[in-house]
Amino acid sequence: ASLQMYVDKLPQIPKLFGYSMQNGLAEPGNLTIGMFEKKWKFHPDLPPTTVFAYGTSAKEATIPGPVIEALRGVSTSVTWENHLPQKHIFSWDPTITTAIPKSGGVPTVVHLHGGVHPPQIDGNPLAWFTSSFRDTGSGWTQATYTYLNIQPAGDLWYHDHALGLTRVNLLAGLIGPYVISDPKSEDPLNLPSGSEFDRHLMIMDRSFFKNGSIYINSTGDNPSIHPQWQPEYFGDAIIVNGKAWPYLKVQRRKYRFRIINASNARYFNFSLSNGLVFVQLGSDSSYLNSPVRTHNILLAPAEIADVVIDFSSSKTNESVLANSAPYPYPTGTAVDQLIGNVMKFIIASGNPSCPDNPKIPSRLVNYPAVTTKGAVKARYIVLYEYDSATGNPTHLFINGKSFLEPVTEIPRSGTTEVWKVINLTPDNHPLHIHLATFQAIKVQELVNLTTFTDCMTAKNDAIACNVTAYATGQLLKIPSYEKTWKNVVKMEPGYQTTVVVTFNMVDTNTPYPFNVTAAPGYLYHCHILDHEDNEMMRPLKLVL
Ligand code: C2O
Ligand code: CU
Repeated sequence: ASLQMYVDKLPQIPKLFGYSMQNGLAEPGNLTIGMFEKKWKFHPDLPPTTVFAYGTSAKEATIPGPVIEALRGVSTSVTWENHLPQKHIFSWDPTITTAIPKSGGVPTVVHLHGGVHPPQIDGNPLAWFTSSFRDTGSGWTQATYTYLNIQPAGDLWYHDHALGLTRVNLLAGLIGPYVISDPKSEDPLNLPSGSEFDRHLMIMDRSFFKNGSIYINSTGDNPSIHPQWQPEYFGDAIIVNGKAWPYLKVQRRKYRFRIINASNARYFNFSLSNGLVFVQLGSDSSYLNSPVRTHNILLAPAEIADVVIDFSSSKTNESVLANSAPYPYPTGTAVDQLIGNVMKFIIASGNPSCPDNPKIPSRLVNYPAVTTKGAVKARYIVLYEYDSATGNPTHLFINGKSFLEPVTEIPRSGTTEVWKVINLTPDNHPLHIHLATFQAIKVQELVNLTTFTDCMTAKNDAIACNVTAYATGQLLKIPSYEKTWKNVVKMEPGYQTTVVVTFNMVDTNTPYPFNVTAAPGYLYHCHILDHEDNEMMRPLKLVL
C-alpha cells in the first residue's frame, strides 16, 4: 500500500541569515554549513530514512537545507564542511566520469545556482572535497565561499555539483534554498511577506523501500555498459519541504510561494484543483517585468516559479496542487494518482486574521527587453543521445564532446550571444548556463529529423548539415511566464530553440565587476542530473 497523503503539515524550512545587523546597518555575514549523514522522517508511516543533509550541525540539518537569506549588496561567506562518512548511502557508477577520492569518503562541492560570483567559488565539479578536505579535486581552491549578492533580488538555490555524483548527492538530500532580498526595490511592491505568507515549496520525487531507505535501482539501465547509471531517476512519492504530500492550512488571502523543482529528472506541470490561478512574479532568479496570470506552470528540474496564490476567491475549502507532466517529459508515462498530487491547501472559512494588500502591482521590475541586436556571436549547441545496440542510452553529449574535452565556448564577459540549441534526442532537456541569463525567442521544429540527425551524427556540424533547410517546421509558443532572464531554459525534443544569452549581466548592460577569468572556470549543462553526470555538460570560460 502506498503512503497516505496529506498527513504531515508543510514544514517551514529553517532560516539562516547571510548578514548581520549592527546598529541598524547590515554587515557581511559568516556562516558555517556542514553536510551530515542523519535520519529523516519523510512520512509518519515510513521508518526513518538515512539521508545527507545540510545544516549548522547534524542535529540542525534538514531536508531541504536551511534557507539562506541574503541581502542585495551585502556579501555572505559560507564555509561548506563535509562531515559525510567513508561510504555513500547509494551505489555510484565508476564507468562514468566520476570524482574518486584516494582515501574514500563522499566527494562534494556546493554550487549556488543562479549566483553571480567568481569561478573559484562556483562549485565546479572538479573542485570537490571529502570530509576534512582529506582529498580534493583538481579544481579545488578554497574552503570558504564569499557570495557577493550583487545581483538583483531573486530566488536561488544551492546544491551539490561533484563530478559524476551530482545525481546521487542530490538524491541523498544535498539541496537548499537561497534568497537575495532587496528592500529598496521589493518593499514598494507590497507582496505577501513574513514567514507565514511568503514560503518556499521545494519539491522532489523519491521512492522508498519498506524499511524507509530511498530506493534507487542499483543495477543500471544497461548493466554491461553502466552497472548503476540510469537515464533518469523517477520516484513514486512527491516530497515537499522534506515531507511526502503535506498539507498547509491557509487563510482567505494572498500567499507567496517560491516553488523550486529539486527533482533529479521529473518535470511538473502544476495546476490548482479548484481552478485557482497562479499569479507568477518571477522565473528562476529573475522577476518578470509584469505579473502573469496562469492556470498551469510547467517546471523542469532546477527551474523556479515565484508565484502568488489568492485563496480569497476560492469557492471550495480545499485546493490540491496537482501535476500532469508525463515522465520522461514530454513523451513518457502519464501521471497516476500518486504523482498527480503534490500537496493540499486547506482553506479556512471566514475572514483572514491578517488581511493582505488588495493588489499585486502591474509592474514589478524593468529589465532590458530581449533582443538579438548587439549580439556579438552566434553558436550552434547540439544535444545528442547515444544508444547501445539494445536501444538503451549509453551517454549524452553536447556538441559531440565530453565534459573533460577542452573548452570550446569562450564568450566575453558583458556580451550577448545567440545560441541555437538543437535537440536531437527524444527528451526535453533543461539547459542551465552558469553566470549567464538567457531567454528563448524562437522554438521551431526540425523537419525530416531522421535525415538531419544522421548527418549530424556523422559530421557534428550544423552548417555542413544545412540546418536552415530543416529548421522550418512549426513554431511553439513561449509561455509569458518564462519571458524574463532565466538561468534554465527547456529544450523541446526535435526542435531548434533560439536563445539570447547574456554573460555576467542581469538587469544592466554592463558586466558585474569581479574577476570572471580565473580557474576552474564555469560550465553549462543539462539539469536532468542523470544526464549531467553522464556527459551532458561542458566547460564555459569567460574572458575580458
Ligand atoms: Cu543547478 Cu550547474 O547547476
Ligand atoms: Cu538532459
